Amino acid sequence: MSTYQATVSAPVNIACIKYWGKRDTKLILPTNSSLSVTLDQDHLRSTTSARCDPGFEKDALWLNGKEDEIKPGGRLATCITEMKKLRKEYEDQNPNEPKISGYSVRIASENNFPTAAGLASSASGFAALVYALATLYKLPSSPSQLSLIARQGSGSACRSLFGGFVAWEMGTSVTGTDSFAVQVAPAEHWSDMHALICVVSDAKKGTSSTSGMQRTVETSELLQWRIKEVVPKRMKEMQKAILDKDFDTFATITMRDSNQFHAVALDTDPPIFYMNDTSRAIVAMVTELNRVSVENGGGLKAAYTYDAGPNAVIYAREKDMKEIVNMVCHYFPLLASTQPYEDRFKLFSAGEKVGE
Ligand code: DP6
Repeated sequence: MSTYQATVSAPVNIACIKYWGKRDTKLILPTNSSLSVTLDQDHLRSTTSARCDPGFEKDALWLNGKEDEIKPGGRLATCITEMKKLRKEYEDQNPNEPKISGYSVRIASENNFPTAAGLASSASGFAALVYALATLYKLPSSPSQLSLIARQGSGSACRSLFGGFVAWEMGTSVTGTDSFAVQVAPAEHWSDMHALICVVSDAKKGTSSTSGMQRTVETSELLQWRIKEVVPKRMKEMQKAILDKDFDTFATITMRDSNQFHAVALDTDPPIFYMNDTSRAIVAMVTELNRVSVENGGGLKAAYTYDAGPNAVIYAREKDMKEIVNMVCHYFPLLASTQPYEDRFKLFSAGEKVGE
């Protein structure tokens, strides 16, 4: 009897239109669609190995070298069960394939960046988990099909199954079959778009996304306005901006959406604060940079965005990145990790590193 094994890695994605709120907490169905950019940088990935063997007694998982519990009915268990189901269907359709869907699996996953520090570790983590099992099981599933399962691990994970610019369509069904990720454009479409991550703090965040967004759904009136009136319009405008490579519109929507996400966090009872003084100072720096550029007849140069933590992600075109990095280094010399320019964060190209 042989052991079957696969190792893959998956990248982080950073949303420009934020997912914040679930209409179904078990299936992880969102209250609004979202849109992100997948980052390709060797420093921001989850690498996951999956093995199955008839001798394994139970499913087991190691996260960054430490064994993690797989709670029955929890998110990890759901993803593993769904992937085994897909393998079983595949075996039924291909009788010559080895019958491994009944074996227990052992999974080892490593993040090469701080876990749970607002750097979307659950996104790359669950995307890598689902992709590792799909590779182990040799499944012919498309990235959108796999995104349906990654979504049930962590909502934002469904977007990390694609490179480039990715939309998570919220869907309308109660079963979630129409709530999956699609690629808006590959990274090569807008290859001079770059992202710089400013690690303001790598401490674990105070309020997790999962509990924070649930509290927002229960208490924020502003969220209802955002869901109905704001996001549907922004999704359309943003997709057009990406297809047209219109940086001004891309940057305007990205910054406004980050601001609105933090506004609904503040509108939550009790309020949630994810940004700190340094985050706000970076907002001021980007705002000033853009103001001067526009005053001199140019367009916007940079767009900031913040997830559920104080770290800033700055999107900019390659031609402006050097100036921005110099500015960040000048005004914020004490950032926990300032990446050298050559090491700046680039976009992930579709499928590049997955399946190694
Ligand atoms: C602010 O995907 O971590 O990063 O589905 O509960 O696991 P769960 O939440 P998660 O939330 C991400 C929130 C966000 C915005 C985004 O990535 O769209």
